[in-house]
Amino acid sequence: MKIVCTVNGQRRELDVRPMRRLLDVLREDLGLTGTKEGCGEGECGACAVHVDGRLMNACQMPVFQAHGRGIVTIEGLGDRDHPDPLQAAFVETGGVQCGFCTPGLLMASRALLNASPQPTETEIREGLAGNLCRCTGYGRVIEAVQLAAGVPVVDAPAPVDGSGLPVPAPDDAVHVLIPDRLDQALADRAAGPCTILAGGTDLMAAFNAGLPVPDRVLDVSCLQELRGIEVTAAGVRIGSATSYSDLIDSPDVTRIWPAMAEAARLVGAPAVQNMGTVGGNLANASPGADLVPALAALAGVVVLVSRQGERRVPVTEFYRGYRDCDCRPDELIAAVDLPTPAPDLRQAFFKAGTRRAQSIARVNLAACARIDGQGSLRDVRLVAGSVAPTIALLPRTTAWLEGRAISAPNLADEAAALAADEITPIDDVRASAAYRRTVLGNLVARFLRG
Ligand SMILES: Cc1cc2nc3c(=O)[nH]c(=O)nc-3n(C[C@H](O)[C@H](O)[C@H](O)COP(=O)(O)OP(=O)(O)OC[C@H]3O[C@@H](n4cnc5c(N)ncnc54)[C@H](O)[C@@H]3O)c2cc1C
Ligand code: FES
Ligand code: FES
Repeated sequence: MKIVCTVNGQRRELDVRPMRRLLDVLREDLGLTGTKEGCGEGECGACAVHVDGRLMNACQMPVFQAHGRGIVTIEGLGDRDHPDPLQAAFVETGGVQCGFCTPGLLMASRALLNASPQPTETEIREGLAGNLCRCTGYGRVIEAVQLAAGVPVVDAPAPVDGSGLPVPAPDDAVHVLIPDRLDQALADRAAGPCTILAGGTDLMAAFNAGLPVPDRVLDVSCLQELRGIEVTAAGVRIGSATSYSDLIDSPDVTRIWPAMAEAARLVGAPAVQNMGTVGGNLANASPGADLVPALAALAGVVVLVSRQGERRVPVTEFYRGYRDCDCRPDELIAAVDLPTPAPDLRQAFFKAGTRRAQSIARVNLAACARIDGQGSLRDVRLVAGSVAPTIALLPRTTAWLEGRAISAPNLADEAAALAADEITPIDDVRASAAYRRTVLGNLVARFLRG
């Protein structure tokens, strides 16, 4: 496939196999070996680059998605003679030891400072949460970012180059379909089996781990009709190709649907948030997905489209079993609709993982309820993740809580015991069943205690 992009400001015309990772093309074809491979699955940030000014993991991006985009690698950030202030600061504070993680840390730090020139220490830690260093320790890295903060810098230019779609080659091993309109995507979908690719954060890691790349891949990341957050008086429609970062950056989402915003903030780390999409999280059907419980608790409805028309399925009914959702072979997820919640609806999303960032939930909980004029709980919705093959709705606990006084003695403890009792989680590598029961109970109690 022929693609056109800019790399460090230079126009590049590349003839590439479309599903190769951007990381491999940068290193092997362009000789830009500053971008490293650590984990190959989005966990370590060693391969971080900027794509159209946003931090992304080059190991998770098929190279065809770079078409028409501006890539900046560590080589474009600065060099020995003209270092970026961050590079100088890393040297000054001793923020480098073996240096393997340093290109990724620098790219993440630059993305952070470009977005937030004077970050707090917490913001620095969050901005670098997707970058692992195994020797220096993070203290000196954080000092370096603080030292470079506020120093003006001209980021390498990232003009969008090339026009139109990439040009497939007859010998492309994988037939990548890149529609520019939804009706074309639906025709492609109807024409035969294909794997939908959006942000690639799940799929590219799976391919890298050995899942065979299918013959036909349908890219939906480029479809403008599937992107965006449309707020009306009745609610919000979130396009399936909308990223977590789009949700996090939306003041409306933070104000009206804070449980969803919090779930998005707790997904992965910045590069994954920039790449991963709402539709991908729904369709991946992982029991540990973070966004799904929030969407379910907020009465979300999945909007599926095919050439036959539109089908609407409540998120609570979308899952049939482990990694199995109600998306038919000719359909794709177009959006998720959420109603505007009552102004007095209390919402929360909690996640217990191995660490705050970049960890799959051991248990998560999205919870909503109103407290009426008499102080009684109304419209209680509790949706837990990672405690069952799909999201768990906790019907017994919910029914028990409905109408009870929020001030009733032992309410939180009794609800916690009920919730712990009504799930049948499994022991696995992330947590034991007993741990999951206890933690879920604690999260329910935490919500009720406010
Ligand atoms: C390092 C790392 C950390 C992560 N941390 C978290 C986390 O903390 N919490 C969490 O919930 N997830 C996490 N994830 C998982 C992942 O980021 C999400 O599931 C993401 O939302 C998937 O979206 P995507 O666009 O990248 O999907 P893709 O990888 O492109 O696709 C995933 C699946 O969805 C299907 N699909 C995509 N779009 C559509 C559509 N429109 N219609 C139908 N099917 C579609 C694809 O065919 C595929 O089966 C993490 C992933 C990584 C790599
Ligand atoms: S190599 Fe680890 S995130 Fe890409
Ligand atoms: S300096 Fe060696 S891994 Fe970070």
